[in-house]
Amino acid sequence: MIFGRIKPLDAILRTAEKKALTRTLGAVQLTMLGVGAVIGTGIFVLTSEAAQKAGPGMLWSFVIAGFVCAVAALCYSELASMVPVSGSAYTYTYAVMGELLAWMVGWALILEYAVAASAVSVGWSGYFTGLLDSSLGIHLPPALVAGPYAGGIVNLPALIISLLVTGLLMIGTTESARVNAVLVFIKVTALTMFIAITIPMMKGANFEPFTPNGWMSDAGGSGLGVFGAAASIFFAYVGFDAVSTAAEETKNPQRNVPIGLIGSLGICTVFYLLVASGAIGAIGAQPVTGPLGEALSPGTKALTDQCQAIIASGTVEPLACSKEALAHVLKTIGWPVLGNAVGLAAFLALPSVILMMMFGQTRIFFVMARDGLLPEKLATIHPKWHTPHIVTAITGVFVAIGAAFLPVGKLADVSNSGTLFAFLMVSISVMILRRTDPNRARPFRAPALGIIAPLAIIGTLGLYFSLPFEAIMVLPIWGGIGLVVYYLYGYRKSHVGRGIIDVHEEDADSPPMPVPPVPEL
Ligand code: ALA
Repeated sequence: MIFGRIKPLDAILRTAEKKALTRTLGAVQLTMLGVGAVIGTGIFVLTSEAAQKAGPGMLWSFVIAGFVCAVAALCYSELASMVPVSGSAYTYTYAVMGELLAWMVGWALILEYAVAASAVSVGWSGYFTGLLDSSLGIHLPPALVAGPYAGGIVNLPALIISLLVTGLLMIGTTESARVNAVLVFIKVTALTMFIAITIPMMKGANFEPFTPNGWMSDAGGSGLGVFGAAASIFFAYVGFDAVSTAAEETKNPQRNVPIGLIGSLGICTVFYLLVASGAIGAIGAQPVTGPLGEALSPGTKALTDQCQAIIASGTVEPLACSKEALAHVLKTIGWPVLGNAVGLAAFLALPSVILMMMFGQTRIFFVMARDGLLPEKLATIHPKWHTPHIVTAITGVFVAIGAAFLPVGKLADVSNSGTLFAFLMVSISVMILRRTDPNRARPFRAPALGIIAPLAIIGTLGLYFSLPFEAIMVLPIWGGIGLVVYYLYGYRKSHVGRGIIDVHEEDADSPPMPVPPVPEL
């Protein structure tokens, strides 16, 4: 039965109470953690993709994606404050809708985190290449900085950075709160400087035509138009759920988690709207069209060729062509040194987003293994490094392959499909739990849930179906593989299925000891 095998909420909560982790994070640190996980490739790189999809209308795309995240964040907050344990969407779904759907959410979260790590690696590569070129005059061969999608062979910088981050995670590097604070400062300073320079230089004419590709593309499945751009730019907001994942390490999570989630989302939305307005106003953001005036999708060879033709003709490179959008805007309007400074900020700060995404992925994997749904052996801890080195290495190899051969926008779209599914499940869970368990203490109650949750459900579904066709299809295919894995493995090995209700005391945050064999019923 689909809704069978529910993990009792009380058992989850007892695990949380027994946690060995110390609660050290306050509201401000939590908000910083959120901002640190959120600001990344989305604003630094995908602004060009959004320009190609929606033109200046991408401002609406930022608003729409931010709105969907805000309503989903309110639902997240209610569950995160009630169930302050690791595993976020996966754990909530387990408690409310049962094991099968929880498995599907965990499986989708693997897609979210791992593919997002690939996307951010490719984004980093664009800034790294641009920085080498403009500050040191080193020009890497085009075949080694893009995959076959753009006429190259392999994106070597993206491959190397993802493997480097994997190595760091394997030997036990986690980002200290202090390093995170410094990197958040660097990112916020870079964006503030960008806004301060570009906003006074805005030209009204650059906002015309405002929606050159309309709201929804006529060409079904192309993902163009304002909604298509919103579905892609949603990536810029991904990561705020890292705050709920840190609930176990938070002082007074009931108060601070909702503040951290909504605070970080609010700060990022304001920054994104100002940065996007500055970029559009300063150099324009019209999509590049093909030789016959046809709309072109980002991440295609046709667009790369057209961009090369424009640059060769001596015309200024359009925003939609740039791989280092924000640095490019500053260089174009006569601030090359500050353009390089923004490039340097991205170069320094984006690896921490990769690290956080990969860390999140191993955490999810870990919690699922703890519930017996994945082989516990894979989550073995290294005796010296004290890290789940095997799962980290496997994740790293997949992340590196994605980064080496796929375009940033397509990776972001695929990651979004997994994230949107997880958000959808959380929004449904919070509504069900209000009905099935109305008397449980809710330290944070989402306001007007009767409106907020349906909006989150409609919003996540709307964005999902605005993605390009391939990204839409990846989720059911990945889900199908997940179902096979579940029935071959997790269904039989599940602790809940075998009647074992885990309350982790000593090992609340480490892989469990091997469970003694239990006879099959
Ligand atoms: N939101 C993160 C980024 O934009 C994933 O890179």
